[in-house]
Amino acid sequence: MKVYKGEVSSLPPDKSISHRSALIGAIAEGTTEISNFSGGFDNQSTLGVLRACGINLRQEKVTARNGSFTRKVVIHSGGLWSFTKPEQELMCNNSGSTMRMFAGILAAQPFESTLVGDSSLMRRPMQRVANPLRLMGAEVALSPDNTAPVIIKGTKNLQPINYELPVPSAQVKSLVTFAALHAEGESRIVEHLPSRNHTELMLGLHVEELPDGRFSVIVPGKMTVPAKPFHIPGDPSAACFVIALGLLSPGSEILLENVCLNPTRTGYIDVLAGAGAGLSLENVSMKGGEKIGDILVCSSLSMHPLRISDPAVVANIIDEIPMLAVLSACVTGEFELHNAAELRAKESDRISAVVNNLERLGFVCEEYADGFAVTGKGAEVKGKVPIESYDDHRIAMSFAIADKVLPAELDISDAEVIGVSFPNFFEIIEGLAH
Ligand code: S3P
Repeated sequence: MKVYKGEVSSLPPDKSISHRSALIGAIAEGTTEISNFSGGFDNQSTLGVLRACGINLRQEKVTARNGSFTRKVVIHSGGLWSFTKPEQELMCNNSGSTMRMFAGILAAQPFESTLVGDSSLMRRPMQRVANPLRLMGAEVALSPDNTAPVIIKGTKNLQPINYELPVPSAQVKSLVTFAALHAEGESRIVEHLPSRNHTELMLGLHVEELPDGRFSVIVPGKMTVPAKPFHIPGDPSAACFVIALGLLSPGSEILLENVCLNPTRTGYIDVLAGAGAGLSLENVSMKGGEKIGDILVCSSLSMHPLRISDPAVVANIIDEIPMLAVLSACVTGEFELHNAAELRAKESDRISAVVNNLERLGFVCEEYADGFAVTGKGAEVKGKVPIESYDDHRIAMSFAIADKVLPAELDISDAEVIGVSFPNFFEIIEGLAH
C-alpha cells in the first residue's frame, strides 16, 4: 500500500461559497470580483444560468509563478433588476444548489423562467422550493411528482414571510433569503437545526438566537446589496476525502492548506477526532467573515467505529457521511447512522448507494429508512469489483479512496462525475503518493 505525504495547496475552492458569491455578485450593484472561484461543473452551471439571464460576467484564468492557475470571476451588475427573460430553459445540470438558490432570485423577476437539470437533478424534491415562494406571491409550477422542471412566474411585489424551514436545508434557507431581499418588508427564516450559514455571513444579515435555541435569519426587505470582493477558501467537504485517505493509509501525513473551517461545515472533523483520528487545525484565522486554516492529518488505523444519530450533527455533516461511512467500515468493519433520511434526496439515494457498494466489497450491512449500519466484514474480496457511482460525485470519490486502501481493485462507473465538485481529485491524490 502506498504512503500519502505532503502539502495540498490546491484543494477545490469551496462549492457552497462559490455558488453564493456568483449569485450575490449578480444581485449586487456595481462590480464584484471573485478570486479563487471553483472550476467544478456545479459552480460553472451557476455562471451559465446567470449568463443566460443577461448578467454580464467574465471568467479569467490567473496563473501563479509555479504554473498552477486559479479562476477569477468578474460580474458587472446594476443590482436586483438586472436580469432579463432567458430565451431558453435554464440548464442547471447536476447542481441542486444552482436550481434551488437561483429560484429565490427568479421569484422576484417580472418574467417567466424554467429551471431544468440532468436526470439526477430532475428526480430531486422541489416542493421545498415551491412552497415558500408561492407563500411570498410567486407562481411556481412543478411536475406532478413535485420535481423539476421548476417553472417560475416571478413578481416585483413579493410579500415578506415568516418561514420555519420544514427540513434542515441551507439551500432552502438561502433561496428564501434571496427572495426576501426583494420583498416589501422584513422576513424571518427560522431553522430548527443549524445548517451552513454562508449566505447570511456574505450578505451581512442579522441572525437572532430564539429563547428555545433555534436561529432566525432576519432579512429587512427591499435591500440594496452593495458589490464587494470575495475570495473563496478551500472546500472542507472536498478536504474530507483527502483526510480519509491520510487516516486510512499507514505512515501517511498530509497538510491541507487554506480550508474553510466554518463551524457549520466542520462537524465531521469533530466526529473523526472523537473517534480517535489524528487531526489538528493550524494557522487558524478569520478572512472575509469565514474561519480559515490548515488541517494536519496523520494515519489513524486504531480509530473507533463511527456511530452517528444526533440530528444536529447529521445536518452539519450531511455531505461527508458517505466518506465517513466508507472510512469507518474500512478501519473497523463497523458504522451506524440514524436520522439521516435526507441522504436519500441527494444527487443519488446515498443510503442505498453506499450500502449496495459496501456489500459488493464484502461488508455486512443493514439498511433503515433513515440510515444504515455496517455490522462486519465478510471474507476479504480481491480482484476487480464493479462499483456503481450512481452518477454521484461523492459516492464516486468515497469509493475511489477505498480503492487506494482495500485489497480489491474497485472499478468505478462514470468516475468523471467527480468533476462536479473536485476536478483535480486524482491529480492531488497521485501527487501525494509515495
Ligand atoms: C448546500 C446545502 C446542502 C448540501 C449541498 C450544498 C449549500 O444541501 O448537501 O451539497 O450549498 O447550501 P441541502 O440544503 O439540500 O441540505
